[in-house]
Amino acid sequence: MKIFVDSADTAAIRRLAEAGLIDGVTTNPSLIAKAGADFLETVGELAAMVQGPVSAEVAATDYDGMMREAAVLAKIAPNVCIKLPLTMEGLRACRALRAEGRETNVTLCFTANQALLAAKADATYISPFVGRLDDINLDGGDLLRDIREIYDNYPALKTQILAASLRSANHVTDAARAGADAATMPPAVIESLVHHPLTEKGLSAFLDDWRRTGQRIA
Ligand code: G3P
Repeated sequence: MKIFVDSADTAAIRRLAEAGLIDGVTTNPSLIAKAGADFLETVGELAAMVQGPVSAEVAATDYDGMMREAAVLAKIAPNVCIKLPLTMEGLRACRALRAEGRETNVTLCFTANQALLAAKADATYISPFVGRLDDINLDGGDLLRDIREIYDNYPALKTQILAASLRSANHVTDAARAGADAATMPPAVIESLVHHPLTEKGLSAFLDDWRRTGQRIA
């Protein structure tokens, strides 16, 4: 499963990129607002920082406006992936951009039928929002499993499932178990995947014992 970071915090993303932990970046208008940074500059910086896709979302809601904005975003770097809302206009723009050879990420997916339509529009990625379904007492994991089953029924559909709105390490495990192709999560969730108290306790015991040997490796 590819791991993408869901953030517009360039310092945090650089740290993770340097550790070789991320395969791509996703942003959205809320994350750009939170970072308080210039959108186009941030996308350029992120696209230079990682080799994988950097999802940048259009703000227009009509087809012509989406296509105009997508042209601006696409010029920033070849690895910019155009993020489009799951609306009729968004799906139309998705199909047109794919015909031009652009990668697309169709976002705000909450049902398996929406995911089916995104795949019919040849989206590169579909982003089911797991956490936001859990927030309203539905099961985001069920949605991932449904989409996986449907896509696997039709091998001609090439869209990759990008589990989004993941808020915890358990969400990440759920996404991997459901067979998501990729998962996007905030930097803090990626960092939380590293930790286990027994790892930390074990390392500290090994280091104490190593000190007692009085030896050095380098
Ligand atoms: O980028 C889309 C998504 O991951 C948003 O997550 O936590 O705002 O539901 P969240």
